[in-house]
Amino acid sequence: MRMDKLLANMGFGTRKDVKKLMKSGSVHVNGEVVKEGKTHVNPDEDLVTVFGEEVKYKPYIYLMLNKPQGVISATEDDEHETVIDLLVYEHAMYEPFPVGRLDKDTEGLLLITNDGQFSHALMSPRKHVPKTYFATVSGMVTEEDKVLFKEGVTLDDGYVTKPAELLIKKQGAISEIELTITEGKYHQVKRMFEAVGKKVLTLKRLKVGNLELDQKLELGTYRELTESEIDMLLSK
Ligand code: URA
Repeated sequence: MRMDKLLANMGFGTRKDVKKLMKSGSVHVNGEVVKEGKTHVNPDEDLVTVFGEEVKYKPYIYLMLNKPQGVISATEDDEHETVIDLLVYEHAMYEPFPVGRLDKDTEGLLLITNDGQFSHALMSPRKHVPKTYFATVSGMVTEEDKVLFKEGVTLDDGYVTKPAELLIKKQGAISEIELTITEGKYHQVKRMFEAVGKKVLTLKRLKVGNLELDQKLELGTYRELTESEIDMLLSK
């Protein structure tokens, strides 16, 4: 890979910063000064140092975003802000993408990575990774809905949902619930409530697999996953 991309990926600043750093003669590859950003290196074989310190290249990043409303789960869009627009250059440089989608008006836990295998492991319908949502719902959510969701409800296109677990947190004209589903059909939570004659007013994802949204993350902010969080997600 290009030397300037590697250094930018490793947090040595913007492309401009990296160019300056390289021109200063502080970057060595296998003991030789390298000043040209376009020089190719093999991160697995070549020894790269900056100011004499070894730079260990990591090919993948794994981020947990607390997605705000109004932002779309895509890498590019002509009209709207995307979740990738919320990332600093140091992370955007990895060219990551969202793991699955949350609707524009849905908040909460969204994973972002450039690791296709990781994404597949979590998104493949065959893996049945559970996802838990908190929702406010217009209408009285009842014990009967719990049973219906457990058995599967028929969506507007005739699809019958897999068993889902409904927890009623607050019952009333506006109810509060938590719903865990193991699949990810388009607008699934909203359509499941429509199937029982109710309307989701707000939706927030709390959990993917065993990974909970970090409560310390403000809306629109993110952090890297820890090694153990990545292992936990992949061990499912
Ligand atoms: N279900 C929905 O209806 N919307 C989402 O964003 C996620 C699940």
